[in-house]
Amino acid sequence: MGIPDPLTQRMKLSNGETIPSIHLGTYLTRDRETYQAVLDALEVGYRAFDSAQLYENEREVGAAINSWLRRESFTDDSLRNGCSERKRSDIHYTTKLAENSDYDKTMQSIRDSVQACGLGYIDLFLLHSPYGGPSARGESWRAVEDAMLEGLVKSGGVSNFGVRHLKELLQSKIRFKPSVNQIEIHPFNTRSEIVNFCRDQGIQIQAYSPLVHGLRMNHSTIISLSNTYSCTPSQLLIRWSVQHGYIALPKTTKKNRMIENVDISGFKISDEDMAVLDALDEGLATDWDPTDAP
Ligand SMILES: NC(=O)c1ccc[n+]([C@@H]2O[C@H](COP(=O)([O-])OP(=O)(O)OC[C@H]3O[C@@H](n4cnc5c(N)ncnc54)[C@H](OP(=O)(O)O)[C@@H]3O)[C@@H](O)[C@H]2O)c1
Repeated sequence: MGIPDPLTQRMKLSNGETIPSIHLGTYLTRDRETYQAVLDALEVGYRAFDSAQLYENEREVGAAINSWLRRESFTDDSLRNGCSERKRSDIHYTTKLAENSDYDKTMQSIRDSVQACGLGYIDLFLLHSPYGGPSARGESWRAVEDAMLEGLVKSGGVSNFGVRHLKELLQSKIRFKPSVNQIEIHPFNTRSEIVNFCRDQGIQIQAYSPLVHGLRMNHSTIISLSNTYSCTPSQLLIRWSVQHGYIALPKTTKKNRMIENVDISGFKISDEDMAVLDALDEGLATDWDPTDAP
């Protein structure tokens, strides 16, 4: 007995919006590679994409989505005719602020991101990190709130925020709570303190680097449990993430891996094995870890 198809499952955000439970990560992809990966993912059935100003690929992610919406990607007329209507609202697009600064700079930066993606609005806009200090975090968040009121952004959130940063924001005069906190989470970095705090506050967790950035595919426990469930290491890791209730953001540019990574509905990891995986926690940060920034 499995779980619902992760590509069609959506989770509820505290502001009433919904968000797909799997997004394609696009970190370290650029130019034509990004464009083709997003198109391939759309054809596989992905509907959510995670970009960032720092990734320098907002334009390509948006262009691929727009091409798909306009059905330009189909060369085969039978495919074109067999498809139902495609709507912008079927897509979920996330991007992130490169740098916390003052209100005006952030507002301009959000407008630039909307323009770059060409999608009319951004579904989820995140402060990429807490760097910059309390004043820059507060000012930047105020701009995100106004962007939501203006319709440039549907939902606002944060990324790499530790409990202290979240408390600081929640205790200040905010009009909207962050809907999500996007943090690195996988069995080798479980972040229980941040997860528990977010859950208490109704903030959804987006788990980045759910495949441990490819660094633990050959770990003995991952191999052994993959054998138990007759799945691949990637499927085990993504299933662990989704089973914990996280929104997972696996990245790949290969279409066969896009298909593999979401084929996780046919098995369920037992409570005992979830605990075995949880116990692998070694606080491994595969890229950066701003969660304790001042
Ligand atoms: N907010 C933040 O600060 C932050 C930080 C890091 C990441 N993120 C987001 O999270 C996304 C995912 O994180 P990530 O890119 O660090 O790493 P990840 O998704 O954990 O791992 C990606 C790596 O796994 C490989 N891979 C993917 N599917 C595979 C499969 N089925 N079998 C074997 N290898 C596979 C990929 O290679 P190929 O591409 O060659 O397939 C790539 O090397 C990012 O792209 C980004 O959108 C956010």
